[in-house]
Amino acid sequence: MNLIFLGPPGAGKGTHAEMLSKSMRLSHLAAGDILRRNIREGTALGMQARDIMARGELVPDTLVNNMMFAEIRELRAKGAKGFILDGYPRTIVQAQELDKFLASEKMTLSAAINFDASEEVVVARLSGRRLCPVDGKIYHVKNMPPRKEGVCDCHGQPLVTRKDDQPDTIRKRLAVYHESTKPLIEYYAKNDLLRNVPADGDAPAVQKLLEKLFETIR
Ligand code: AP5
Repeated sequence: MNLIFLGPPGAGKGTHAEMLSKSMRLSHLAAGDILRRNIREGTALGMQARDIMARGELVPDTLVNNMMFAEIRELRAKGAKGFILDGYPRTIVQAQELDKFLASEKMTLSAAINFDASEEVVVARLSGRRLCPVDGKIYHVKNMPPRKEGVCDCHGQPLVTRKDDQPDTIRKRLAVYHESTKPLIEYYAKNDLLRNVPADGDAPAVQKLLEKLFETIR
């Protein structure tokens, strides 16, 4: 099964992709995480992406397409069962290029899952998000707190805040989402791949909706 996770920043794409990749044994490819890894490692791509991401804007399509195609090829070579693309594609051009790439590799998409979350909810989620600095595990100060306040459950390290989770950058990311990414909902609806999931509920409730939905996709 090959899935796309669509939705505004903070809708829960990363949280649920991580849970589902384990329960369904799918590979989780998160465009934002791969870009942040490139920044940490100081690659040429990371250097080009760093300031763009800090401003909450989109990294140019060609760079992101090439990065994701290389990741998908690598998964394929390893014999992966399927994937969840989280945060990719994010523009119509990316979606069109992904379609061409998958066709050339004789692969198909099973569904595009749209996490339908309200602006009020996503702002509250992003403002309280915290991450483990070692493996990027996602927490929330209220919704998904660690066992000990401010400290990662697995590595015992102080949790960190993402640079782009500051109020001004959150506003910018939401504006970019509405302008560039929201049109993908219609794109995938036309291709008969769109599945909507109400995503304002708590994590167990959203997870249940997703698992029910996957029974209809399998
Ligand atoms: P990226 O890292 O992909 O960020 P995003 O899309 O803005 O999404 P987020 O990671 O902020 O949110 P999420 O939906 O994964 O929510 P999460 O599960 O963490 O991209 C960052 C940047 O990289 C972009 O701005 C851009 O510059 C660049 N980029 C990435 N992809 C690109 C592309 N394709 N093209 C060009 N540029 C690209 O949850 C949020 C919080 O809520 C967490 O604290 C979590 O604990 C909590 N939470 C989650 N679900 C629930 C729930 N159901 N109930 C309660 N709390 C919940």
